[in-house]
Amino acid sequence: MNILFIGDIYGKPGIDILRSSMATLRETYRPNLIIANGENATKGRGLDKKTYKILMETGIHALTMGNWVWGQFELFDFIEGSNVIRPANFPDAPGQGSQVLNFNGVTVMVINLLGRTFMNPNINCPFKTMDELLANRTADYVIVDIHAEATSEKVALGHYLDGRVDAVLGTHTHVQTADSRVLPKGTLYQTDIGMTGPLDGVIGVKKEIVLDRFIKGFARPNEIGEGATQLNAVLLDLKARTIERIHIEAFEAGR
Ligand SMILES: [Fe+2]
Repeated sequence: MNILFIGDIYGKPGIDILRSSMATLRETYRPNLIIANGENATKGRGLDKKTYKILMETGIHALTMGNWVWGQFELFDFIEGSNVIRPANFPDAPGQGSQVLNFNGVTVMVINLLGRTFMNPNINCPFKTMDELLANRTADYVIVDIHAEATSEKVALGHYLDGRVDAVLGTHTHVQTADSRVLPKGTLYQTDIGMTGPLDGVIGVKKEIVLDRFIKGFARPNEIGEGATQLNAVLLDLKARTIERIHIEAFEAGR
C-alpha cells in the first residue's frame, strides 16, 4: 500500500505546483492513495469550496487540516460528507477528525490532530484523543497527521503511538525535516513533511512583509509569496515500512 502524503498546500502557488507535478508524481511513485494537508490552500488561510473542488480534481483522496481549519467559514457548510478531515481533538466541531479510505478492499484510517504547545491550549489532549480513536480501530492501516508547532510535541506523539499506528507525520511548520525514519516499534515517522507553495517567501508569506515584522516590529497584513515554488511530500510504503522524502522546486523561465 503506497501512500503519497503532500505537505501543506499554501495558496495559489501551492495549487499551481501541485497541478503541474501530479502527473509526474503519479508516474514516478505509483501511489494507491493521495492525501494532502489543505489548511492553507485558500489564500493561506483555510479552505473554501472552490479550492476544495480544484484540489479534489487533481486526484487527492482526502485533505487534512490544522489551526486554520475554520479560516474560511464556508467550510462549516460543506465539511459534512466531504473528503475534508479536521483536527480530531476539537471538543465540539462539525465534520470528522478521521476518515477511512479504501483501496481495493484495504482500508486506511487517516487521522488529523492539532498540537497544543504554542498553539491552541483550548482543544482536547491529542494523546488521549488518539487513545479514544484507536480503541475503535478497525482499519488495516492508520496514518496520523499531527499539525503542531513544537517539534517536541510531534516527536513525543510519534513515540506514544509507535507500534500502534503505521505512520505519524508532522505538518504546519512548513520546512521539511530530514528525520524520516522507522521508530523502534515499526511506526513510520517524520517531524514535518514541509510546505507546498512559494519557495522564496518566509514559510509561504512574501519575504519583505515578514522581514519588516522582524526588523521594524510591524508590517502589512500577510501576502502570499511570489515566484519560484516548491512541493514537499512523503511516499509511504505501509507494507514494506519505508518512508521517502520528496522535494520538488519549480522556477520561472530565466532564473
Ligand atoms: Fe498550520
